[in-house]
Amino acid sequence: MNKKELVEAINKLRKEKNAVIMAHYYQNSDIQDIADVIGDSLALAQKAAQTEADIIVLCGVHFMGETAKIICPDKKVLVPDMEAGCSLADSCAAEEFEKFVKEHPDYTVISYVNTTAAVKAVTDVVVTSTNAKQIVESFPKDEKIIFGPDRNLGNYINNVTGRNMLLWNGACHVHEQFSVEKLVELKKQYPSAKVLAHPECKNVLLQLADVVGSTQALLDYATKSDEKQFLVATESGILHEMQKQNPEKEFIPVPPADSTCACNECNFMRLNTLEKLYICLRDEINEIVVDKEISEKALKPIVRMLEMSK
Ligand code: 13P
Ligand code: SF4
Repeated sequence: MNKKELVEAINKLRKEKNAVIMAHYYQNSDIQDIADVIGDSLALAQKAAQTEADIIVLCGVHFMGETAKIICPDKKVLVPDMEAGCSLADSCAAEEFEKFVKEHPDYTVISYVNTTAAVKAVTDVVVTSTNAKQIVESFPKDEKIIFGPDRNLGNYINNVTGRNMLLWNGACHVHEQFSVEKLVELKKQYPSAKVLAHPECKNVLLQLADVVGSTQALLDYATKSDEKQFLVATESGILHEMQKQNPEKEFIPVPPADSTCACNECNFMRLNTLEKLYICLRDEINEIVVDKEISEKALKPIVRMLEMSK
């Protein structure tokens, strides 16, 4: 099938099956364009909580599908490619994290949404990059906090809030890969451009940023700003929506190190294609299943996050 035929077939299926297609901003542009909902991690969780569809096709990575399934246990949640994992979620094995948590019984456990259901099940409150600062600050200054798994986001939140949270040593291989040298070169080439960076990037890169924020926060900043040029240090899929909302502005992706590519793409996110989306919806395959007991435990910190983000 060509692209037009695929789009028509997906449109027909989603109507017949009362399905909703949700996509993260890091999906390829074909998927973003066909999605009913596009958003960052927080928006996808919020929309999953509100949907009346019978089937959710979550175009993102596995933990996003899992989060939707935990929020909507009675719905069918499908993902286009089961192999779409996440290096950050993988950097936090549930058994090790649980052991770490048990070793610190008087600590509140805050986990980034980029975790497996089993990690969420031993968490007090889940956060995304959109609400992490606000949720951490809602606890008393002297609250003892474990923050996992992203050391860069945790370090950033520690810096901006003056906290001293205990950090898990995990990271996202995509955001850690931005080249500081190439960014410095780009800043010389585009001296008036604002640098937008995601807090999953290393501190040395964040030091060069004008704005640090979640995917949604960076998009909102770019849209509201009077500036005309932006150097973007997050997964390059977001440039599609940035450009769509701001056709008169220029968005330049910051490249990764050790690569000739101009754009930094998440290899997991980019496993999803329009064709895989069509097949998973047509055959209702790649269904996310979460153990009932783990799901019930993981729901509590997710609901707490959704409540705190209203
Ligand atoms: P946000 O969607 O919260 O910006 O997180 C970025 C990310 O890396 C998702 O996997
Ligand atoms: Fe995971 Fe990083 Fe890919 Fe996001 S960009 S899904 S954090 S590997």
